[in-house]
Amino acid sequence: KRLVVLVSGTGSNLQALLDEIAATGAEAYGAEIVAVGADRDGIEGLARAARAGVPTFVCRVRDHGTRQEWDAALAEAVAAHEPDLVVSAGFMRIVGKEFLARFGGRFVNTHPALLPSFPGAHGVRDALAYGARVTGCTVHFVDDGVDTGPIIAQGVVEVRDEDDESALHERIKEVERRLLVDVVGRLARNGYRIEGRKVVIQ
Ligand code: GRF
Repeated sequence: KRLVVLVSGTGSNLQALLDEIAATGAEAYGAEIVAVGADRDGIEGLARAARAGVPTFVCRVRDHGTRQEWDAALAEAVAAHEPDLVVSAGFMRIVGKEFLARFGGRFVNTHPALLPSFPGAHGVRDALAYGARVTGCTVHFVDDGVDTGPIIAQGVVEVRDEDDESALHERIKEVERRLLVDVVGRLARNGYRIEGRKVVIQ
């Protein structure tokens, strides 16, 4: 299967996918990363892709007249690589109608909290501020809401008394990387169907 991965930052989740595919082989893993896209230049995620010899593209909101035009351009840039699955690995943008029309049902996101708790851009900070004693990460399909799509898998992380946002996020990311690598591989190898809110991996 062909994967396009979208990133906005450090790309440690991307790196985990790259490492697993390199170690296992694309055939055995079930998928290869054919391109990495970003909404900004100069980020570590793009450098990781380049080091792995994976083609990259950048689609910046400010280069497009409207949000809708940006969304259509992003969809076009992704479609050019003919992906079977698109993975948002720390991609910090909400995609629009056009993107979802083309990639809905095969667009996977990872979120650093146990959805439906603490959606949005600050899932780790919000869980900590709320006083949650467990949090974690959620890998889910993207729908037209913010972090509301059908859940594929979740991982649990305990909150420690001494945690601050970055310490907690680091422990979540360890679990998140393994979960994402596992889920993407299973989706690619086995196939899946989405029945309402339920994701069944065959
Ligand atoms: C991940 O925890 C992701 O869920 C969140 O931002 C982090 C991205 O990390 N939205 P990285 O860029 O993969 O290192």
